[in-house]
Amino acid sequence: MESESSEQHDSQLNKWVLNRTIGGHTSKLTEKVALVTGGSRGIGAAIAKRLAADGANVAITYTKGADAAASVVKEIERAGRKAIAIQADAADADAVEAAVNKVVAAFGRLDILVNNAGTAIPKTFEETTLEEMDRVLDINVRGVFVATQAALKHMHDGGRIIMIGSSVGERVLVPGLVPYSATKGAVKIFSQSLSREVGSRGITVNNIQPGPIDTDLNPATGDWAVPQKAATALDRYGRVDEVAALVAFVAGPDSSYITGANLTVDGGMNA
Ligand SMILES: NC(=O)c1ccc[n+]([C@@H]2O[C@H](COP(=O)([O-])OP(=O)(O)OC[C@H]3O[C@@H](n4cnc5c(N)ncnc54)[C@H](OP(=O)(O)O)[C@@H]3O)[C@@H](O)[C@H]2O)c1
Repeated sequence: MESESSEQHDSQLNKWVLNRTIGGHTSKLTEKVALVTGGSRGIGAAIAKRLAADGANVAITYTKGADAAASVVKEIERAGRKAIAIQADAADADAVEAAVNKVVAAFGRLDILVNNAGTAIPKTFEETTLEEMDRVLDINVRGVFVATQAALKHMHDGGRIIMIGSSVGERVLVPGLVPYSATKGAVKIFSQSLSREVGSRGITVNNIQPGPIDTDLNPATGDWAVPQKAATALDRYGRVDEVAALVAFVAGPDSSYITGANLTVDGGMNA
């Protein structure tokens, strides 16, 4: 048998290193497929890019931002992974189920679901209409139910269901968030309950609870930001990549014994 020359060995080693790292992160998710709902902007876009950097092929959903979604897809493709964007309103059960099926048709599997799509309509409780309450419930809770049920049909051992809840699902320090915090509290216990049902299949379910993160939904500037920033121990808003880093850990192999957990990334807001 011919022995490998040192140049061949170096070239193979370089290929291996390139395969293992992309964007500076170790490729812990190579051959995994992730779906991030609401992945065109904000926290969801950061999660999609980070999971791709860790080696996954990634699908995202969005509602209105086709251009923003396309640019997330391009960025992931430039980094050497596959990506698709699917228009699917989290409040539309048929669209969400079709999106999950499209991901499996495109990539052949689904390993990680990140239930990120969510909305808030901040106003006082007495001014909030029933239609607004229904809208927030439909996206933040019903949408999570539909996407999770559809995804579980395809998930196998090692699968990951990850919720993007909120620190206000545990403790509310500012007014104007009754429907929103109620939905995030619901997502927390949804996640804990589900972990009991799918654990025997080797699937983990965890709830990531961000504090104030600078996005279009919750900009770090303006009157609304002042009490939120002041309530954190670090006296600052968080960045989307700081949430994505925790999601990437929970999505990866190092979190295999973590399930039913509520993991808060809030700059100490709930300390
Ligand atoms: N920012 C914070 O301070 C904070 C704190 C705690 C928790 N969170 C949670 O983190 C998640 C993301 O928040 P974000 O701040 O990144 O929000 P964002 O900046 O408003 O981005 C929302 C993303 O979700 C998509 N989206 C919105 N409504 C949707 C729907 N009905 N169906 C499908 N996709 C939809 C948007 O795409 P289109 O524009 O195309 O609709 C966009 O990609 C939410 O669940 C939120 O509750 C945020």
